[in-house]
Amino acid sequence: MMTTDFEECQKISVKKFIQYFYQGNLNFTLLPEDVEKMDWSWQQQFLDATVNSKLIKEYPISSKYASLFLKKIIQHLEQNQEVHDELYEHLCTSMNNIDRDGFSYRHYLIGNDINNVVTIKETKNMVVNGTTGLKTWEAALMLSDWAICNKNIFLNKNVLELGSGVGFTGITISKHCYTKSIVLTDCHNDVLKTICDNIQINFPHLQKEEDKDFTWFNDQDKSLGVLPLDWNAIDDLTEDLVPDVLIGADIVYDPSILQPLSNVIRTFCNRNGKLEVYIASVIRNEDTFNGFLKTLGEMELNYETIELPKCVHIEWNESINRSLLKINSKLK
Ligand SMILES: C[S@@+](CC[C@H](N)C(=O)[O-])C[C@H]1O[C@@H](n2cnc3c(N)ncnc32)[C@H](O)[C@@H]1O
Repeated sequence: MMTTDFEECQKISVKKFIQYFYQGNLNFTLLPEDVEKMDWSWQQQFLDATVNSKLIKEYPISSKYASLFLKKIIQHLEQNQEVHDELYEHLCTSMNNIDRDGFSYRHYLIGNDINNVVTIKETKNMVVNGTTGLKTWEAALMLSDWAICNKNIFLNKNVLELGSGVGFTGITISKHCYTKSIVLTDCHNDVLKTICDNIQINFPHLQKEEDKDFTWFNDQDKSLGVLPLDWNAIDDLTEDLVPDVLIGADIVYDPSILQPLSNVIRTFCNRNGKLEVYIASVIRNEDTFNGFLKTLGEMELNYETIELPKCVHIEWNESINRSLLKINSKLK
């Protein structure tokens, strides 16, 4: 059956709004020509792919965000279209719900595809219980996007992530880059527990095993580990941990951790002279970032900057001041 131009535009439009909903985006404008396409069938498609979908029912997005999103759409629709009853119903439900423990779920689209998402349980707050690790930061999106563009770096490698937070980067790399193993680390207990929850959400078929300090999630093809690793306590670091690739996103933000962080990088370089290290940062304070570069030099570590011109598979904010460093040891 032939589709008309109107139906084709309608399909594109509904896909765009489904993506906004999944990505937690409220910064969209609704033009009269958008509203014209949002008839009953458009609204039904939107509802089925979002609030009525199995994924969103099982892992609901923030109630606050859902109510703001639905309110914005309904306000525009009311002027021009008959509004679907279920939109009102879902608006009421989300206004009456409170996100449990401050946590909700975000669904990050890979390649703008709603069938290819990484679901992350996280909070919306920058600091919770004294940690910045309970939300996904922009550098995590940037580093993951770059990794998917450079899969060969991770292919069949043992990867270790420092300061993993809720685990978006490690989980996305494990899903898309065919690592031999990946170990996600952090120093905060609530963060480590949330990483385990997020691994189980994204890889429900993996077998969970506890081994000393590690929690492993394995099957014959995949291996993800979760390990407490505090940069201030590297003497406790188990000796059999020898990664090929070390990664970190948004971990250069506090002058007091620059030296401990550089010590960890040095320690892993001492264990493997060929170690490749990739650290993605949002540069909020030039002095802190330059302090990190200086400390790397003092620790006999080389660095070079990798260009990150624009988003490819994952959306991140292209207007931020950013850096991706490749670091390796001067001493081989
Ligand atoms: C800004 S968050 C970034 C989280 C995640 N990489 C992301 O980009 O979404 C910084 C992370 O570093 C961790 N961190 C801070 N100090 C640390 C330390 N001394 N040892 C290990 N992890 C640390 C925090 O717990 C937090 O998860």
